[in-house]
Amino acid sequence: MSPTSETMSLFSPALARRFDALVEKYPVKRSALIPMLLYAQDEVGYLSDAVVAEVAQRIGITELEVRNVATYYSMLRFKPAGKFNIQVCTNISCMLRGAYEVYERFQEELGVGPKGVTSDGLFSVEEVECIGACCWAPAIQVNYDFHDDLKPDLVPGILDQYRNPIQDQEKDQEKNA
Ligand code: FES
Repeated sequence: MSPTSETMSLFSPALARRFDALVEKYPVKRSALIPMLLYAQDEVGYLSDAVVAEVAQRIGITELEVRNVATYYSMLRFKPAGKFNIQVCTNISCMLRGAYEVYERFQEELGVGPKGVTSDGLFSVEEVECIGACCWAPAIQVNYDFHDDLKPDLVPGILDQYRNPIQDQEKDQEKNA
């Protein structure tokens, strides 16, 4: 069997099969790099040395080339993050509308500093460049969810949505009953 087959992969069999298909899909294999890194990060939690090595091998480029591309994208990370990674945009539009106050409030509420991870592993928080929601600044992204038009006082409620997703769903169902 080839070393990139699912039996030799550090990824789940389903993801290994997805990667096998992805590298065949593009005329130039390295076009699959970003989607592969995103899928790998979703499964493993971050781009570990082993992830970088396997992705490089599957695409046929060096690990350094993988790192050079990955470091450009703020949504890709080389260290474990919390289950919910909070990315606060502090680029110009968001900064002018109070992004740093929002960023500080997240750190205060979570008891962590910049790029910190809470001791229960539930949350991490970091400052990022523009996330493409400038019209609704200040904006943040929690994993793949966007929250916009924020104020520091809205921060505790946002955290609760992720701490208690099931209770919130039940409350919504009760309201709608
Ligand atoms: S400047 Fe914050 S989303 Fe663009």
